[in-house]
Amino acid sequence: MGENAPKGDEPDVTRRTLLTLTATLGTAAILPAVSPEVRASGQEVQSALGAHQVELQINGQPHRLEIEPWVTLVDALRERLSLTGTKVGCNHGQCGACTVHVDGRRVLSCLTLAAACDGRNVTTIEGLASPEGELHPMQQAFIDHDAFQCGYCTPGQIMSAVALVGEGRLGSEDEIREYMSGNLCRCAAYPKIVAAIRDGARSMGA
Ligand code: FES
Ligand code: FES
Repeated sequence: MGENAPKGDEPDVTRRTLLTLTATLGTAAILPAVSPEVRASGQEVQSALGAHQVELQINGQPHRLEIEPWVTLVDALRERLSLTGTKVGCNHGQCGACTVHVDGRRVLSCLTLAAACDGRNVTTIEGLASPEGELHPMQQAFIDHDAFQCGYCTPGQIMSAVALVGEGRLGSEDEIREYMSGNLCRCAAYPKIVAAIRDGARSMGA
């Protein structure tokens, strides 16, 4: 029996258990809560990983959620808050369909833990239009340029495009393509997407 094996009545929490939990959840952020110094029982570990209260400001509205630490932002938005405008494509950070803004910066919500957004401002595609329903200039430009076919990638494209303008990265066509390269379009509507971004940015005053 190795040094790390449980002995007698000692808690049955081995380093393997902790590593398995960490690997399964895909984050080291939980480690402080279950560090080896904490001689917790298996039940206590489960409790440490249970639901926590998280406050998110979403599209200007406060939301308090009981959420497990492994829930991604996109799942919280779609499944807990019914904000289904944000799409899931690959769920692995490769397609950009799930792009939203957190504190004004674009993030992939399939790779972002909802708990990590506690106290942050989240903007989704539903939050771009004015409260009166007037479309954001970038939304209007995508419509005007017919910059989609199936439309599945479009919310992510628009969120990324708005952020690109905010980042001051509106440059040549090649530069737009480069800074939009994280947003894939299986319908290959790229030429019209680039044209829409140019036009939308102009309407935004860029
Ligand atoms: S669903 Fe998030 S990057 Fe594809
Ligand atoms: S419009 Fe169909 S994936 Fe982009």
